[in-house]
Amino acid sequence: MSQASVLVVEDNDLERQITVETLREEGFAVEEAAGGRRALELLALSQFDVVLTDLIMPGMTGEELLARVRADHPATQVVVLTAHGTIDSAVKAMKNGAFYYLAKPTDRESLVLSMRRAAELASLHQENLLLRTRLEGKLEIEGIIGQHPSFQEVVRIVRKVAPSSSTVLVQGESGTGKELIARAIHRLSPRAARPFVAINCSAIPDNLIENELFGHERGAFTGATERKMGLIESADKSTLFLDEIADLGAGLQGKILRVLQEKELRRVGGNEAFRVDVRWVAATNRNLAEEVAEGRFRDDLYYRVNVVTITLPPLRERRSDIPLLAEHALNHRFRHLHGGRIREISREVMALLLDYPWPGNVRQLESAIERAILLCEGEAIQPADLPSEVLSRRPPGRGAERLRPERFEIPSEGLNFENLERDLLLQAMEKSDWVVAKAARLLGMTYKTLQYRLEKFGLKRPDAKTVSGGLKA
Ligand SMILES: Nc1ncnc2c1ncn2[C@@H]1O[C@H](COP(=O)(O)OP(=O)(O)OP(=O)(O)O)[C@@H](O)[C@H]1O
Ligand SMILES: [Mg+2]
Repeated sequence: MSQASVLVVEDNDLERQITVETLREEGFAVEEAAGGRRALELLALSQFDVVLTDLIMPGMTGEELLARVRADHPATQVVVLTAHGTIDSAVKAMKNGAFYYLAKPTDRESLVLSMRRAAELASLHQENLLLRTRLEGKLEIEGIIGQHPSFQEVVRIVRKVAPSSSTVLVQGESGTGKELIARAIHRLSPRAARPFVAINCSAIPDNLIENELFGHERGAFTGATERKMGLIESADKSTLFLDEIADLGAGLQGKILRVLQEKELRRVGGNEAFRVDVRWVAATNRNLAEEVAEGRFRDDLYYRVNVVTITLPPLRERRSDIPLLAEHALNHRFRHLHGGRIREISREVMALLLDYPWPGNVRQLESAIERAILLCEGEAIQPADLPSEVLSRRPPGRGAERLRPERFEIPSEGLNFENLERDLLLQAMEKSDWVVAKAARLLGMTYKTLQYRLEKFGLKRPDAKTVSGGLKA
């Protein structure tokens, strides 16, 4: 076995130092934390075989830390330290999944022995997890980052349902990766060779959506000089992604329900219905069951759509993935912005990222990193490169539209105006799902001005071609 790693969590400096020294002398790789929060930060950054923690500490207690380790780091073993007279809580900790408890003051022999045993068990667990991952088929999907158990569960379901044609509903707060997951379902399905067809139901007025979705016959209405194929038809033998499905008007809900039930389609103005073979994936950032309860969404459509529901956890509930996502953004997604010049995210920045609640989830984290890359002048991203809300650990008002930032301050070291402008444009486009009209509203400029600026910087949606008014093909 390679060198076993132990994280010692103890608020008493002297006691902690003694334990750390002893374990180092015995050949363990040891790190230390004076409290639970710091311990969680370290756990998010690297894997430990054993966490040795005091039970009674100011701030987060050892019990809370135990619960977090059990939830987020299944292989890591926890050994608790108890002062005289707190055996009851030690027993409780064992019931809650601690590997063992040691009474203070600990003698060297039992300390070392328990650490060895716990480390052995941890490495067995790690091997097991690895093995299971291999047996179940990889628990990874290219380009999708997340090791947290709640996210791994999502990945497991995606892998399981992708090969079928069953309808999937993807729920989750804004920016949690709903579209990413919808695309993965398509990519991992037998339909992958055909293009993924996406429509954002909230970006287009209902009467236009109907035309977009169903197409029309020649002469269906004035101006319909040609027959037009709708998106449903173009998704035949492929996947159709209905984004923001909760925003569909009542009329369209009924029409879509019919297609889902009959698997037949009629173009606007057409008499004849024809069969289509479409795999439907719908997404919403609202609670669709609630929308049904409040009469805004048809229950029969809800039951059709919600054959399999995938609920994406918000980022604040899978904090251990923050460093992975941040590094992925730096080293892969936005590498082209710095070409490898920026080597790392400083520890201080990582601690701030871990602490922030991320109301805009992964998208917000990505924009923070992108912005930091543009502002960063050295080889490591520094706190000064972060947006002010992350620095002050305050989430902005819900919804970017309602956010009224204070006056923008030019940093004393100056700034690159073109980079900043480009960054603002990118942010607005990403926040608006690359719908130019929406982004223009966010920036308080006209459609034309924004279009001119987008062209000036050559900004395009990175992964897909924008067709028009929010349609993505
Ligand atoms: N697990 C993940 N791994 C890597 N990148 C991710 C992950 N989740 C989200 N992202 C990235 O975050 C951004 C937002 O994701 P996406 O557009 O899929 O979110 P969404 O849930 O559809 O958001 P919205 O509700 O605002 O439409 C994208 O750039 C996406 O690539
Ligand atoms: Mg989306």
